[in-house]
Order: sequence, then structure tokens, then C-alpha cells
Amino acid sequence: MTVQERLEQLRAEIRRHEYLYYVLDQPEISDAEFDGLMRELRELEQAHPEIPVPPDSPTMRVGGAPREGFVKVRHSAPMLSLDNALNEAELRDFDRRVRELLGGEPYQYVAELKLDGLSMAVHYEDGVMRQAVTRGDGIEGEDVTENARTIRTVPLRTKAAPWPRFEVRGEVIMTKAAFERLNREREEQGLPLYANPRNSAAGSLRVLDPSITASRQLEFHAYFLLVDGRYALPSHWQALEKLSELGFRVDPQRRLCRGIEELAAFCREWEEKRDSLPFEIDGVVAKVDSIEQQLRLGWTAKAPRWAIAFKFTPRQAETVLENIEVQVGRTGTLTPVARLRPVVVGGVTVTNATLHNEDYIRELGLMIGDRVVVERSGDVIPRVVRVAEPGRERRPFVMPKECPDCGGPVFRAEGEAAARCINTSCPARLKESILHFCSRGVMDIDGMGDAIVAQLMAAGRLKSIADLYSLTVADLAPLELEGEKARRRLGEKVAARIIANIEASKMKPLSRLIAGLGIPFVGERTAQLLARSFSSLDELMEAGEERLMQVEEVGPKVAASIRRYFAEPHNRELVERLRQAGLNFRSTETAPAAGGPFAGMTFVLTGTLPSMTRDEATRRIEAAGGKVAGSVSRKTSVVVAGAEAGSKLDKARELGIPVWDEAELLRRLGQ
Ligand code: IVH
Repeated sequence: MTVQERLEQLRAEIRRHEYLYYVLDQPEISDAEFDGLMRELRELEQAHPEIPVPPDSPTMRVGGAPREGFVKVRHSAPMLSLDNALNEAELRDFDRRVRELLGGEPYQYVAELKLDGLSMAVHYEDGVMRQAVTRGDGIEGEDVTENARTIRTVPLRTKAAPWPRFEVRGEVIMTKAAFERLNREREEQGLPLYANPRNSAAGSLRVLDPSITASRQLEFHAYFLLVDGRYALPSHWQALEKLSELGFRVDPQRRLCRGIEELAAFCREWEEKRDSLPFEIDGVVAKVDSIEQQLRLGWTAKAPRWAIAFKFTPRQAETVLENIEVQVGRTGTLTPVARLRPVVVGGVTVTNATLHNEDYIRELGLMIGDRVVVERSGDVIPRVVRVAEPGRERRPFVMPKECPDCGGPVFRAEGEAAARCINTSCPARLKESILHFCSRGVMDIDGMGDAIVAQLMAAGRLKSIADLYSLTVADLAPLELEGEKARRRLGEKVAARIIANIEASKMKPLSRLIAGLGIPFVGERTAQLLARSFSSLDELMEAGEERLMQVEEVGPKVAASIRRYFAEPHNRELVERLRQAGLNFRSTETAPAAGGPFAGMTFVLTGTLPSMTRDEATRRIEAAGGKVAGSVSRKTSVVVAGAEAGSKLDKARELGIPVWDEAELLRRLGQ
């Protein structure tokens, strides 16, 4: 085989695997094998500079050099917006207009999820991606070709297309998980945070340096196929099928609806299920299926008459920022919290929202007394996203110089976003540390809630985490129950149960104990990796930075933090007392050769699990070496089903794929 042939073979193979992985979510090879193919291609391209690298080579996804600015490009046909239906009545009004304008002839709708991102047009010539343009003002957009190239779901070369040139329009989005991850990283690096996945998708696509886009895990979901600015097929449904054939990611939930009842049912169904998706949706888009009918219905100046955006009840609302208070976390971090005039956001009354840190407040230009927009999405804590109207009597927030709880000094390290109370025995820190230690993913001491811990601390019975292990039924029984209006004692029975839970925690795996200590930057996952790498807590305590950095995912920052923690006499004393109390210090957690008990397995999650969020389940499966995919196929190893599991469960049964509940998952995880 000639070099040229091998190059082409590698490119074709990589393209196929990219499609299987990114578009279909059904990888056939491991990440390591994929990386191996990429490496071979890159090396071969570099070894033969005489053979030009075509723009559709998979190695071109890394992102070229930063540019000076964006070039404006005119769209082949305007990228219009859609009219909104804010409730079912307005949706029915839309349908009535369609029915009347079509003079009573039959018609169908294609219903698609309305992804909350930004729209983009991608142009292909002879099947090769040539240009990508943002929507801009709808007439003219910005050329973001180099950035779009780095998005894995934008094929650099499509499968065989019947047209020499065509254009694909769709939405660029960031998944909720990628968004949370990005903000976590930014918070650690002291960078401004993004308010929501939509803003971070926009911020990641419209940057001058494509390598930033490449690092952001964006996705492109296609919903229009145009040839010379016109529709190329007789129906929208067929266009979506064609896009899917060409290798684009197309909404798998799309549904052909015969009339308004089916359409309204689809809208209701997805308003209900929106949180089960890995990305944010803000509604449903309905389009008349027949292109011939679309053309007859035509456009108004702003939007097509043949389509509508059904918007879900907004999860944003305006209210007044009455105050900003500061909460002290277990590592001493001072987090400003917005106290809001109560407001209903998507069916839930919101009174507090996180403001993350001082910089976040400054970026928003936020002051106490302002009218603000609050957003709630899924199961995450509400956030203030912007100022709606500056208050007439507004006052700025100032981070206190002293800890609001213990009065100790507050310190903000250079380059860090967080201000911290540096008193290790600060009561607020202690309370948060104890609650963290007892929490579900850690030592699992059920019953040790906020109110109980506060009462024990006030009574002087809890001055350290270690004091948990000398508590008795007599200490707990007289305490008052959490959240009860009428005063009621905890009682002997409940007290005995809590004591039993404390007792049982002594035998938890070492990783739980490490996570429970609350070492800065050591969360559940790092704790697991540490427990696998050290045979006991003593060995971990004595390890130097070099040795710590041999552990997967432990870099200089985490290693230094672990060293600092164990160098502190208070912390060593805590560890000694925990040893005296009889806690398990030995590691039984070994990493199986191929990276975890679930290595090579693909999981699909469906429904609501009783004690874990979807993100948490994903994290744990991944920590055990498994992969989590979005849809069930023959390649799926296991489906994990919770309450109200839907079609994925049916599909799993149909294909004979094993189904686990949460308890089974935890059992297999050895937890
Ligand atoms: S069709 C002329 N389909 O929603 C038709 N738009 O409110 C224009 N969007 O600008 C768009 N998912 O950014 C269409 N399946 C979908 C969509 C979708 C999200 C966005 C798009 C558009 C906005 C209109």
C-alpha cells in the first residue's frame, strides 16, 4: 500500500469511528484504540510534508491559529427566527391559522425539540465542509469555519450526497455536563463563570482562537438542509432523514404528528421530561411537513407562517435582590448568596440563589436593591443571570474582611476567585465539614442533618468530626426533630438508628473516608483514585508530592493540597482519633487492569434513580471505567432504569439487554 493509500484509509476509518461515537453514541472501539488511529494519522502526515493535508482530514479538528477578527458573510437565504406560542391556547391559534390558510386540506407537523443554543449554517462542496457561519442578524453572520471544524458532530466530509453543494443549518449547543465541568474549571482558575449552557456555547463558538472551541465539547444538531438556499426535498421529515444519512446528528425524538392533538401531546410530554435530557431545551419547534404547503403558507417579515416555537413555561423570573449574605463552606470558602423576594420560577418558589464569588457579582454589575432575572434549570441551584433594572436605592456588595461566623480573618489568594476564612476551627466550617462527612456519597450517616448537628455543636458535644464516634443514644434522644414546628424530641428509637448508622460507617471503604476528610480539591473521584493507589490511609499521609503525582489525575495543585492537609497538626490529630474510634484505614479498592470494573461496558440511563442524579450516576460509572451513552443499541451492555423509565427500557427488553436498578448498580460498584 502506498503512503497516500494508507493516509486515505486511516482518514476514512477515523471518520467512521467519529460518526459512531459522536453522532450515534455507539462506539465500536475503545478511546485508546481511537487515539492510536489518530496518532498514526498525525505522524504519517507529519512524516510526509510533501503530501498536502486536505481540509477534511480528521487531524484538522485541532484548531488553527487565532485570527484578528471575524469576517462577515451573507446568508444564502435569511436565517429567520420563529414566532412563539407561550401556551397551548396560542399553539392552537397557530394551528387554526395553518388550517384556514390551507383551506381544509390535510397536513402534518414535524415536532422537534427546541435546543437552547445558537444557530449556525454549514456549507459543503463535493461533500467537504467549506464554511460555517453564525446566524448573526439573520441576513449576515460571522465566518466561524475554523472553530466549527473542531466540533466533532460537524462532519468534515459527509457521506455521499446527491448535490455538489448544500448547506446544513442547525443548533450549536453545550451539554449540561460539559457546562458544569467548564464552570468548575473556571471557578478553580478564578475566571468569570458562564450563566448557562447557551451563553457558554455562544462564548465558545465565537472566540478568535479555535483551540478554545476545540477544548469546549460543543455539539451541532442539524435541522435544515438547503440547496442553493432552497429546500431540496419535498418534505421536512425527509430532509431530516437525509441529514441523518449524511452523517449529521438529528433530533432522535422528532415526531411526525397528524394534527394539533398529537402535537400538543408531544409538547406536554417534553415539558414534563425535559430534565431527563443531557442538554437544555426551552420548547418544541413544530414545522408543517410538506414543503409545497410551507411555500404556500409563506412568511411574514420576521418569521415563517408554517412553523412555531412552543415555549415551555419560563424558568426565568424577575424579582428584587433584597440582600447578599455570605455563607461559609467546609473548606472556608465564602460564598455570596442572593436573598431574593420570593418568586415562582417554573413552579418552584425561589428565595435564594448562588452568586458564586465576588467576581461573578462584579461581572453582572449587580447591587443590592436591583431587579434581577433568576433562572432555574433542572436540578441545579437557581442563579441570578442578569440585572433587569438597577434599583433606585442600590448599594454595592462588599466581601467582609472577617468571617461572618467566627470573626476570623478572610483571605483571598492571588489568582483565586474564592475568598476563604482561614480559621480551621471556625464553627461554620466545622458544621459544613461534619455534614459533608455524613453525607450520602461519603460516610452515609443517615439522620445527621443540619438541625441535629447544629444542636450538638451548640451543646458542645461536637467539636470535631471525631466526636461523632463518641455520641450515645442519650446525647441524641433529647434533641429536637428537624424542620418540625411543634417541638418534638428525636426519641430513643430514632437516636438508636442514627447511632447504628454511625457505627456502620466505620467499615466504609477507604475512598469514602478520604473524601470525608474534606481535603481541598479532593472530591469523590480523586479519593477513589487515591484509595486504589495507596494501601492505607497511613501510606497516603506519609506520601510526598512526587509519589502523589503518580496517581492518575493528581497534578501539582492537588498533590500540594494533600500535603498541606496532612502537615497540619489538627488534621493529624483528627486522623488519630478516627483510628482510635476503629475506622477502616485499609484500602480494599484495587483498580482492575483495564481501568475499573466497568471497563469496556456501555451503559444507558433511563428514568429517575431514587438517590442519585443522572450526572452523579454517570460520574460513578465513568469512575469505574464504563461509558454512558444516550441511546440503547445492540452495543449497550446494561440499561440502568429508575422510576418512570420510558422507551429506552422497552428497547432494552426488546434487545434482551440486562436491566439494573440503582441498588444493583451500587452493588456492582462495590458501594
Ligand atoms: S427552525 C425559520 N428548529 O430556535 C426557522 N430552530 O426561536 C428557524 N432552534 O433561531 C429555526 N431548535 O436557534 C428550528 N429544531 C429547531 C430548533 C431551532 C432550536 C432555535 C434556533 C432559532 C430559534 C427560533
